[in-house]
Amino acid sequence: MTSQKSSWRQAAVYQIYPWSFNEDEGRQPQKGHGSIKGIAEKIPYLREEVGIDAIWLSPFYPSPMKDGGYDISDLKDVHPDLGTIDDFDELVRVAHHHGVKLMADFVPNHTSDQHEWFQKSRKRDGYEDWYIWHPGHVDENGERQVPNNWASVFSMPNRQARDRGEMPWLHHDEWTPPVSQWEWDDERQEYYLHSFAKEQPDLNWSNPFVREAMKDAMRFWLDHGVDGFRVDAVNHIGKNMKLPNEEVNTAYNEQWNENPYDQLLRYNSADYPEALHSYIWEMAQVLKDEKYEDRDLRMVLEAYVGESELRDMDAIAPGVASTFNFGRFYIDWSASHQKIQIDYYYSRLQKTAVGNQVNGNHDKTRVATRLGEDFARTAAIMNLFLPGMRFIYNGEELNLRDAKIPYERLQDPYGGRDPERTPMIWDTDMPNGGFSNVAPEDLWLPVNEEDLDRSVASQRAQPKSTLSLFREALKLCHKLDAVQRGSYVSMHTDNDNVLAYSRRTDDDTVVVLTNFTRETQHVKVFDTDFVIAESILSSNNVREDLGRVDIRSGITLEPAEALVIIPA
Ligand code: GLC
Repeated sequence: MTSQKSSWRQAAVYQIYPWSFNEDEGRQPQKGHGSIKGIAEKIPYLREEVGIDAIWLSPFYPSPMKDGGYDISDLKDVHPDLGTIDDFDELVRVAHHHGVKLMADFVPNHTSDQHEWFQKSRKRDGYEDWYIWHPGHVDENGERQVPNNWASVFSMPNRQARDRGEMPWLHHDEWTPPVSQWEWDDERQEYYLHSFAKEQPDLNWSNPFVREAMKDAMRFWLDHGVDGFRVDAVNHIGKNMKLPNEEVNTAYNEQWNENPYDQLLRYNSADYPEALHSYIWEMAQVLKDEKYEDRDLRMVLEAYVGESELRDMDAIAPGVASTFNFGRFYIDWSASHQKIQIDYYYSRLQKTAVGNQVNGNHDKTRVATRLGEDFARTAAIMNLFLPGMRFIYNGEELNLRDAKIPYERLQDPYGGRDPERTPMIWDTDMPNGGFSNVAPEDLWLPVNEEDLDRSVASQRAQPKSTLSLFREALKLCHKLDAVQRGSYVSMHTDNDNVLAYSRRTDDDTVVVLTNFTRETQHVKVFDTDFVIAESILSSNNVREDLGRVDIRSGITLEPAEALVIIPA
């Protein structure tokens, strides 16, 4: 299928974190975390009540859970605590029956240290060069040293250890050392490399057998019916295998609570284009295989890299693969700054590509906590009407916030990301918000008590709830041809606090105006192809009817309001 016709072009994609989504009631005894069957039960909710077109499942594979499931011990199975392969097949069937596509998380950079490949590799029992092994160097004192200075992404624990007084030898103006990517293995008597946790050894993508095995795993899930992949941390598979040291990043600022990982620039340990681009190309070829000709397959690449690297990655196979547009996470909540990023993003996207917009995921503070609950609704509307795949992280449709989690219940010691991963809240009046029937202390992560009143059951019938807002917005997105097919047109206004854009086809226009302040704003919009407007949706749900206004003489926006208007 050509990507011009692809139904991913304007898909609302809902990210499910399987452990925290829903435990099916039929599971006896209950385990206190989500299940694959529990997800299948909620497909009608996602389709009919939210209006989503696709789901992305975070890892559901067997895993010792050292990194929330991103440490996979078998790439071709389902975690026994979540369900079985049959449950998975049934989930795909139910999703497709409801017209919902399914994207699986695919983790190419590493496996768990419990994966059979690594277990054999460390014994030199086959799979010898499937991971990145090195004997290290012996220094002038005869001591063995790590091969180079590469730092693990998970270096925050060193900052925390220092804060607890565990690094007394550091002078107060010295930077905290990052965690090395190298871990000594007693069994093999060599170091192995890990970009993330030491329980996540990096695969050696320069080995063609590794690449074949990974592509084989992709085909396994495609043959089980998945419609594509979210490709995890893909930039890390591209490494300079000569293993040169990274240079120091002089812009690093410890005072800003930056990750010690960022003390080094990244030119070799990740983002190394000579390797990365060809590996992405190879993965894309799997989706383009003749065998899948009639399928509408896509992948979205996860990479926290600079704009120029993103642009290059997006140009590799635009018909099937594009990269997450994370740029806006790092830009302050300002209409003019956000507009520059959005304009640039769409202007540089290839014609055949499918772009995307994101407000949150399982690695980031929830948007309602980051921006505030009012602006979370504004940001939602702003995103939903933009072109491409619009990602919705589970719970955003309820305006859920980060939870405060007692120390003894933390699950993510490396990343501190538990606050945004607590269970979904289905029903205020049910035990654990309807998520699972175990005693609260047996839940894998606690329910956020402060959000209990934001359940699906309580928001469903309230016309002004965030759930109703998502439902109305996505209904409109599906209905309006300008949103389904229209191009992105950036607009000029007389007010720097308002971001304005439109979606246009030859016959249709939709304009979205977003007030980035908590004050009322008056705005005139100039470059429109119509003058008299009618409002069809407000993120505040405060307006019954805007009436007809002349948009050249001005519109008043309520505080934090995103307003959708069409020609009257
Ligand atoms: C990605 C995932 C994150 C995980 C990391 C390593 O960034 O989103 O949750 O810890 O990759 O797999």
